[in-house]
Amino acid sequence: MTLLIEPIRREDLPEVMAIEVAAFARPWTQEMFENELARGDISEILIARLSDAADPPPVAGYICAWVVGEEMHINNIAVDPRWRRRGIAGALLEAALGRGRIRGARRAFLEVRASNRAAQSLYRRFGFQAAGVRKRYYDHPIEDAVIMRREGL
Ligand SMILES: CC(C)(COP(=O)(O)OP(=O)(O)OC[C@H]1O[C@@H](n2cnc3c(N)ncnc32)[C@H](O)[C@@H]1OP(=O)(O)O)[C@@H](O)C(=O)NCCC(=O)NCCS
Repeated sequence: MTLLIEPIRREDLPEVMAIEVAAFARPWTQEMFENELARGDISEILIARLSDAADPPPVAGYICAWVVGEEMHINNIAVDPRWRRRGIAGALLEAALGRGRIRGARRAFLEVRASNRAAQSLYRRFGFQAAGVRKRYYDHPIEDAVIMRREGL
């Protein structure tokens, strides 16, 4: 499996939306992704392509992040269910953290559902630690968010 990590282009949105809908009970809408594309000053979306799976290489996952001043916020990350547990989210997170560092971020934050152990263990592997709880932050179903922080980017 050969991964290419690159900035999203507008024509990648249908593939990204298909993964988003498969990954979340409350998926982002296409309009939400388009709003991110329009905020190129702070927002960056990276996609992972499987360069040896097919031609053109399919999108297997993506990560959305903001950098504002010295803070980075991971807003969204998902991998196609067919391609999970192969290191794709890890590669996306590493690339996004590297880009954040270049853009001046010194620490990163994110929220994750309290029950989402898979994502929490991914984030811990990249140096994130639990930093607090936002009560009833999510709906469908209602659930607390764990805030995670990584210092020293
Ligand atoms: C969370 C998610 C992005 C992980 O993607 P992935 O490409 O499968 O993750 P990786 O293969 O890079 O995993 C890296 C590490 O994260 C942890 N991890 C990932 N999935 C896991 C799972 N299902 N159970 C336990 N640990 C898991 C492991 O430590 C894993 O390393 P290992 O495979 O060597 O044990 C993916 O499961 C997904 O899209 N989930 C739905 C969307 C979501 O929950 N996004 C996060 C919102 S905060």
